[in-house]
Amino acid sequence: MKKPHQALHTVLKAACATVATVAFTGLVAANAAHAADASNGKVLADAHNCAACHGPNLNKPVSPDYPKLAGQHADYVYWALRQYQMGTSNPHLGRNNPIMQAQVQSLSQGDMKDLAAYIQSLDGDLVQKK
Ligand code: HEC
Repeated sequence: MKKPHQALHTVLKAACATVATVAFTGLVAANAAHAADASNGKVLADAHNCAACHGPNLNKPVSPDYPKLAGQHADYVYWALRQYQMGTSNPHLGRNNPIMQAQVQSLSQGDMKDLAAYIQSLDGDLVQKK
């Protein structure tokens, strides 16, 4: 027969393992469950008024030091948005532009994936010069 504190230890260990498994499964599910939704990305882009700076269809920025976004790869756009969100809190990975940092603060990971899918879906006039 186990001593009482040993029995408690065994129960706690089992409980911790369960919590860890549930938390991990939850994380994986949250990531896998979010298929990027370009139409929600458009709703978000309109709500956040991205076009005010990046121009109509995010393709004609108001100034040449503002990037054209239309047609850019979703993976790259998502990562860029994540980097602005990290900002100076991660000097190795973050982007420190204060204008864009302000734009992304309220966005969730899913929002950024949706925005990225929307941006990739747009026709852009960036051309590859040969
Ligand atoms: C107030 C003006 C402004 C608004 C509004 C704005 N942006 Fe930006 N955006 C900029 C500027 C300026 C840059 C360039 C920043 C830099 O040099 O890092 C930029 C850069 C970006 C980049 C990086 C592009 C690249 O090629 O690396 C992405 C992606 C982006 N913006 C997406 C968005 C989205 C999505 C929204 C709406 C949620 C938005 N922006 C709203 C001004 C704005």
